[in-house]
Amino acid sequence: MGFKLYYVISLIAALLSLQTSLSRAAVNGGYWLPDSGLEASEIDSTLFTHLFCAFAGLNTANNQLSISSECSSFTQTVQKRCPSVKTLLSIGGGNVLSSDFNKMASQPASRKTFITSSINVARSNGFLGLDLDWEGESTSTEMTNLGTLLTEWRTAINAEAINTGRKPLLLTAALAVTPRLYLSNATFPTQAIAKTLDWVNVMAYDFYAPNNSPLFTHSHAALHDPTGAASGSSGISAWISAGVPPKQLVLGFPFYGYAWKLVNPNNHGILAPANGTDTSVGAPPGTLIYSQIKEFIPQKKATVVFNSTYGTNYCYSGTTWINYDDTQTIAAKVSYVKTNNLLGYFAWHLAQDNNWALSKQASQTWRS
Ligand SMILES: *[C@@H]1O[C@H](CO)[C@@H](O)[C@H](O)[C@H]1NC(C)=O
Ligand SMILES: *[C@@H]1O[C@H](CO)[C@@H](O)[C@H](O)[C@H]1NC(C)=O
Ligand SMILES: *[C@@H]1O[C@H](CO)[C@@H](O)[C@H](O)[C@H]1NC(C)=O
Repeated sequence: MGFKLYYVISLIAALLSLQTSLSRAAVNGGYWLPDSGLEASEIDSTLFTHLFCAFAGLNTANNQLSISSECSSFTQTVQKRCPSVKTLLSIGGGNVLSSDFNKMASQPASRKTFITSSINVARSNGFLGLDLDWEGESTSTEMTNLGTLLTEWRTAINAEAINTGRKPLLLTAALAVTPRLYLSNATFPTQAIAKTLDWVNVMAYDFYAPNNSPLFTHSHAALHDPTGAASGSSGISAWISAGVPPKQLVLGFPFYGYAWKLVNPNNHGILAPANGTDTSVGAPPGTLIYSQIKEFIPQKKATVVFNSTYGTNYCYSGTTWINYDDTQTIAAKVSYVKTNNLLGYFAWHLAQDNNWALSKQASQTWRS
């Protein structure tokens, strides 16, 4: 009797684990930075399925991963409030030069050292995955090296899982909004990406900034763009056309905005004439996090607009015009993610939220 029951339970367990390996778990994600002013213990981890600790560095002298004490204790800290939340260690971002990543990725020996080190660091600090944030890849050589790195990384991760009898670590990467870079025309190694990554975090923001597009107001993170310019949805479509399926794509949204200076305070739509950065607000000048924008609005009696054609918010007061994601934009983006059967969404980054309003909106829309 006892043996039979054990047999049935193991069979069910085996079927369940097969089921989960076939259907990827949804991603309600967010990045946390240790020096952002938000303590890890303050994170409302019940609002997320996955949290990214950003960033581990690359020691260029020996190609080992370097991790801060805040990231070392991150998993334990955030799982106190929500034991089921999964954590990933993000590598790079502003901490690693593109040329340093490329140097490591260009040689078999340095790749091997880096990969082994990353798996050891993830396992010994309780992370369930690794997330590559190699920012600023721009040449086709870098793209090729990235593809080789990802392929060897996946092989090593699978081998480690078999050797230890554990579930393989997750492997993800934060990548540009389109698989083809606009300036250099270099293309991401989409085949290797589709084969090796659990998913891509698509960085669907920073399409414009007042200092590089000074003459007209723009949405820097529009979900759509009727003029055919960069947008979240066109980027996602391009990744899908390039061979990365929807269930491997996670849409990113920003918890910050940019301020343009209007030429005429009475002409305040998207693509209204502008005169560069409004340096009277934000830090650095013209850049405001969501919580600052929510202070600016009542202080300056600003008008808030949600433009559903673009899927973006902006607010204006006098000649100050700020483009950002408010709750309506977040709801529209999460609905888009659901309708198009993407894997999920992520926020960059948690400390910029205003009392969890955007994170809560995202989670609510996901569940509705
Ligand atoms: C970019 O690549 C495409 C396809 O490979 C090619 O047709 C086009 O001429 C290239 N453009 C530039 C600016 O290099
Ligand atoms: C833009 O601002 C500069 C000063 O910062 C001013 O000299 C110029 O006239 C402005 N241009 C327009 C079109 O308002
Ligand atoms: C969104 O903005 C564009 C450009 O300013 C405008 O043409 C369009 O009518 C707006 N859409 C809505 C729904 O207000």
